[in-house]
Amino acid sequence: MKLWGGRFTKPTNQLVEEYTASIGFDRVLVEEDIRGSLAHVRMLGRCGILEPEEVEAIAGGLKRIRERVRAGEVRFSEAYEDIHMNIEKLLIDEIGPLGGKLHTGRSRNDQVALDMHLYVRARTVDLVRGLVQLRSALVEKAEEHIDAILPGYTHLQRAQPVRFSHHLLAYADMFRRDTERLIDGYKRVNTMPLGAGAIAGTTFPIDRCQVAEELGFDRLYDNSMDAVSDRDYLMEFLNAASLMMIHLSRLSEELVLWSSEEFGYVELDDAFCTGSSMMPQKKNPDVPELIRGKTGRVMGHWVALATTLKALPLTYNKDMQEDKEGIFDTVTTLSGALSLTAPMIAGMRVKEERMRQNAEQGFTNATDLADDLVNSGVPFREAHEVVGRLVLYCLRENKRLLDLSLDEFRSFHPSIREDVYQKLRVDHVADARSVDGGTAKHRVEEALVKKKREIDET
Ligand code: ARG
Repeated sequence: MKLWGGRFTKPTNQLVEEYTASIGFDRVLVEEDIRGSLAHVRMLGRCGILEPEEVEAIAGGLKRIRERVRAGEVRFSEAYEDIHMNIEKLLIDEIGPLGGKLHTGRSRNDQVALDMHLYVRARTVDLVRGLVQLRSALVEKAEEHIDAILPGYTHLQRAQPVRFSHHLLAYADMFRRDTERLIDGYKRVNTMPLGAGAIAGTTFPIDRCQVAEELGFDRLYDNSMDAVSDRDYLMEFLNAASLMMIHLSRLSEELVLWSSEEFGYVELDDAFCTGSSMMPQKKNPDVPELIRGKTGRVMGHWVALATTLKALPLTYNKDMQEDKEGIFDTVTTLSGALSLTAPMIAGMRVKEERMRQNAEQGFTNATDLADDLVNSGVPFREAHEVVGRLVLYCLRENKRLLDLSLDEFRSFHPSIREDVYQKLRVDHVADARSVDGGTAKHRVEEALVKKKREIDET
């Protein structure tokens, strides 16, 4: 017997049952569903809609079911479609027809919205914690290697020397923005839909504020129709999640590059790499590769939900059931990536020598020579041209700028002075960028202090 069987004359077609059921995935919501029902039924009691003994029996039954679920003793059934009706059916089996009073003044439409708000709210908190750990790992690594200098790249061509710490702190800032986005979304996630009923509210004299308070919500949905059809908070969550994955993916890509022999800037911990079934020498960065690879599916979940929602008339439509799997998969994918990246960063060995060698090659100090000429009064465009010709000369002679004699320098421009050798050293080049937000050591030290404070304030 279906919980909604009264109006029907035939059993549901077996294929329809399988096609429409969501219990296969929304069982993830079991804790949220029971918690929401407990708050609802207690409120029904306080509002005089149910008798105290009824409330006690229903709440007792729900808690016993929760224990059995936790102990892995409950088998959900597709015949009861989703987690909401499975729990209700279990309750009726447990305490008899009285269990049928639980759903007074409530619809699955506001119930599922409540469960999803509770679920996303809790996961938001978990993810913020994960982000804080990752940001701490980045800041610690940056602090440890404050003197390491590597070539910064544009177009993946060596551009200018930067501190490795500065590079890591760029990621710390991306993950700070991700944290801010999640926290901002939290305001809207923390809005309580229950009481909207199926669409228009309920005739029972319920008290929505009591439920909100018991469940820790900051506010109520103002409009019952919005309450049951709003999925903005899920879109926002997917958006924040996609950006997080994009950031994790970019970091992963750099770890893959850096740990290659061609770059050789870091060595990932053995515990975070895998081998090859055939080639005995291999140590592969599977984890960052897989994080990079899994980014697409989270972005795909954003597109999928946006597409589902874009032409839906108000209010609830069964299409909305499609919001679940993408959200659940996003949470799994993202928490996996986050919890692996933090220890991977903490455990990687940084090869400072190799970084420095590369920073000293590839004319990463060429801009500084041009800037130096500008300081002697040469227009920048002319200085650029002079240094460009110097670079070409070096390439032909197979030399670095620092290998040139002062006479060679001066044959390109008379105002190049002796102190050029000092100014073109990579440490000097990096430290010359002492603008706010630059890669000079004292700026990076300031940034470390600031980043630590931001982490503490999260
Ligand atoms: N399983 C449904 C979902 O995930 C629950 C809400 C069902 N409501 C309904 N009127 N069929 O969206």
